[in-house]
Amino acid sequence: MNITFFLYMVLFISCISSGAAQNNSGFDHFWLVQSWPPVYCQQINCRRRPSDFVLHGLWPVNSTGHSLKNSSKDIPNFYSLLRNHSFGMEMDEHWPSLGTTDGHDPFKHIGFWTHEWEEHGSGQPYADTYYLQAAIRLRKSVNLLRILGNQGIYPNGRSYWETGYIDATKHVYGYPILKCYKGYLLKEVTICVDGQARNLISCNHEERRSTNCRNIITFPPP
Ligand SMILES: *[C@@H]1O[C@H](CO)[C@@H](O)[C@H](O)[C@H]1NC(C)=O
Ligand SMILES: *[C@@H]1O[C@H](CO)[C@@H](O)[C@H](O)[C@H]1NC(C)=O
Ligand SMILES: *[C@@H]1O[C@H](CO)[C@@H](O)[C@H](O)[C@H]1NC(C)=O
Ligand SMILES: *[C@@H]1O[C@H](CO)[C@@H](O)[C@H](O)[C@H]1NC(C)=O
Repeated sequence: MNITFFLYMVLFISCISSGAAQNNSGFDHFWLVQSWPPVYCQQINCRRRPSDFVLHGLWPVNSTGHSLKNSSKDIPNFYSLLRNHSFGMEMDEHWPSLGTTDGHDPFKHIGFWTHEWEEHGSGQPYADTYYLQAAIRLRKSVNLLRILGNQGIYPNGRSYWETGYIDATKHVYGYPILKCYKGYLLKEVTICVDGQARNLISCNHEERRSTNCRNIITFPPP
């Protein structure tokens, strides 16, 4: 498999943003982590810039929001899973590796998905297909641009109160966790999901403390 420099950069950035991971004892629920490409792409050299949020991953976490892994679990066979063409197209649309390719070839993202699995997915307790399909289904059920827009928060380069982002998300999906680049550029929005990977829930008080944004957050345009 060809792993490009860009992919390495994606993996590198992804590693430094993830925090410590432990093994999968203590699994409690999931984090549905979505990146805002215009800010994510300030940290890596992107070859593709979607104008909507994309999945970073669906991370099994313990009750304090620490990512879990289980190194004895096999990596999903993505080559085999991608023989399902519609699954491949959904993964390419919602879970792309932005640094790897400007085209729409799901096979080019396998290195990224493998990394995400090893670092943030392996501690999840379900079958591979259930887990991956759940990630896509949950991503599709969350429309951050719409619910933020409903509260007058648009990706137009302006800055808004952090509480505005939180309130807009809280009312529809539950309390989120926000991550910023340089403390003020909206980079990632995490919504919490129950332990069955079915329903969106509020992130708890303890895990919400991992937010690193200031009181005023800029929402750069696509
Ligand atoms: C997980 O970590 C705990 C605490 O460090 C340890 O007791 C346990 O054996 C580990 N389990 C696996 C499967 O590695
Ligand atoms: C969650 O994981 C972190 C990091 O490994 C650990 O320090 C903490 O004790 C864990 N919390 C629970 C409730 O298992
Ligand atoms: C880790 O994965 C292995 C292989 O699937 C499994 O047998 C084991 O129970 C898992 N460990 C934990 C702590 O769930
Ligand atoms: C193929 O993928 C689609 C979209 O994810 C899914 O709805 C369908 O159940 C999958 N088909 C099989 C045979 O797994």
